[in-house]
Amino acid sequence: MSDDVLVAVFSADDGGMDAGMWTRLRSWLQPEETTRADNYKDMDARAAFLIGRGMARTMLAEVTGVAPGDWRFTEGPHGRPEIASPDTPYRFNLAHSHGMIACAIARGRDIGVDVEYLDRPDSSHDVAQRACSPDELEDIASAPDDGRKERFLTYWTLKEAYLKARGLGISVHLADVAFTVHTGEPVFVPRGSLADVDTRWLFRLAQPGPRHLVAVATDTRLAAAPNIRFQRFAAHRFPPA
Ligand SMILES: CC(C)(COP(=O)(O)OP(=O)(O)OC[C@H]1O[C@@H](n2cnc3c(N)ncnc32)[C@H](O)[C@@H]1OP(=O)(O)O)[C@@H](O)C(=O)NCCC(=O)NCCS
Repeated sequence: MSDDVLVAVFSADDGGMDAGMWTRLRSWLQPEETTRADNYKDMDARAAFLIGRGMARTMLAEVTGVAPGDWRFTEGPHGRPEIASPDTPYRFNLAHSHGMIACAIARGRDIGVDVEYLDRPDSSHDVAQRACSPDELEDIASAPDDGRKERFLTYWTLKEAYLKARGLGISVHLADVAFTVHTGEPVFVPRGSLADVDTRWLFRLAQPGPRHLVAVATDTRLAAAPNIRFQRFAAHRFPPA
């Protein structure tokens, strides 16, 4: 894995979870995570939380040999989970939406991941006007009627992945986190406050299911650009007790 970025995606539609697995995922949590899990009234949200934290611990265990239950996480200033212990160069980020859960891990690099559901109801024209650059808006407008929402959500997913990689809240003007996406792999075109100061990012997009998009952002400060690998995460990958 040494210089790879791994992006694993779990789909609730694939099933495969049994009672023993849920118990195991819960047993790996720290007390504050257990409280959070128990406070979810929405069972799907609780499941996504448990699976995401379980995926992170499983993937970190696979690359380091440290057991899933031995990882402690803490929260950064905007709520971004970080590894508190053991001491490790690895970092991770999580996202979940409508039954799709993504976990990205990287060694010595900032990493951010986002998942969006293509049928989400709140992707209105007004949101696009606020969040997108003039070039992005032009590109969205030039898409066929039935492709505009997906084009907008493609930009949105990339913007979220960037913000999550940087652990930022809404302190950045979203239209400055700009991309071109119609020429193959997404290209970051930072504008305004970000122009020329933040060009060290690599982005990739994937469509893990017909109604979901995943974007990952990772930094390229290290000499070699990382190899970004997307993979499916099946329930049986959670290690036995
Ligand atoms: C906090 C935030 C990242 C969560 O986003 P979301 O779409 O509600 O949820 P996601 O599924 O993408 O991500 C949730 C996961 O991100 C991680 N996370 C939380 N805060 C984070 C932060 N500040 N940075 C990076 N990752 C964060 C957590 O692992 C969380 O999973 P958890 O429930 O297991 O703890 C988001 O609300 C945010 O602040 N985004 C930036 C602000 C913004 O305006 N975004 C619009 C961009 S177009």
